[in-house]
Amino acid sequence: MAINQHFFRKTIIAGSGLFLCVFLVVHLSANLILVLPAAIARGLYNSYSTVLRESLFIQIIAYLLYASILLHVIYALLITLKNRKAKPQKYALNHYKQNSTWTSQNMGFLGTMILLFIVVHLANFWARIKLGLGAPVGLDAAGYQDVYEITNSLFHNIYFVCFYTLMAIPLGFHLHHGFKSAFKTLGFYHKKGLRIIANVALWYALIIGIGFGIIPFIVYFK
Ligand code: HEM
Repeated sequence: MAINQHFFRKTIIAGSGLFLCVFLVVHLSANLILVLPAAIARGLYNSYSTVLRESLFIQIIAYLLYASILLHVIYALLITLKNRKAKPQKYALNHYKQNSTWTSQNMGFLGTMILLFIVVHLANFWARIKLGLGAPVGLDAAGYQDVYEITNSLFHNIYFVCFYTLMAIPLGFHLHHGFKSAFKTLGFYHKKGLRIIANVALWYALIIGIGFGIIPFIVYFK
């Protein structure tokens, strides 16, 4: 029973985690528009963002995304608490350099930093654009909500630039381990396949981490 429950929780974490990995690829691709010259970037970013918000399909995907974030966080918390209770002697026995990596030992800490980032990030954008909280969002020349301007002014504040860039580091580490481990949890044990997944995980984490980390700086100096 306990093993089944543990397996169920790990499966939820792995499945929701992989869904979030796909979201990050789409989200990064969209945000790369920000590095284009302002004259092109504003129109593209605002129309893309409006099309997404008005599509019923994307609205359903957005609810799946919120559910995945909640499930990922709640089940990760449950597993961490359970493991702590089950292994109070963890630090005395665990020779973690031999058994596992620093990242795998600190997924909870890295995940908490990402959660902190997401809360600030949603307050910066999502709460203003979708919930209409805070300063009203202006319209661009085409009459679209000027989401580009929110991003542009946020990334002309050096504190936010540093915050977004620094937070891309725990994100990259968390993704590197999480991506590999999700496949194992879902029952993928093929030896050569796992080696390929380890390589993909490294490249995936580097691209997402560096991508999200560098955009704020490019916008700042643009
Ligand atoms: C350069 C960095 C980033 C920029 C400029 C950015 C920009 C945005 C914008 C403009 C929105 C609102 C979209 C809209 O409703 O029109 C948004 C939503 C969101 N972002 Fe980001 N983002 C960045 C990084 C991240 C990262 C690293 C994560 C996750 C770790 C993330 C997670 C989310 C989530 C979950 C939403 C809500 C999605 C929705 O409701 O459809 N973002 N982001």
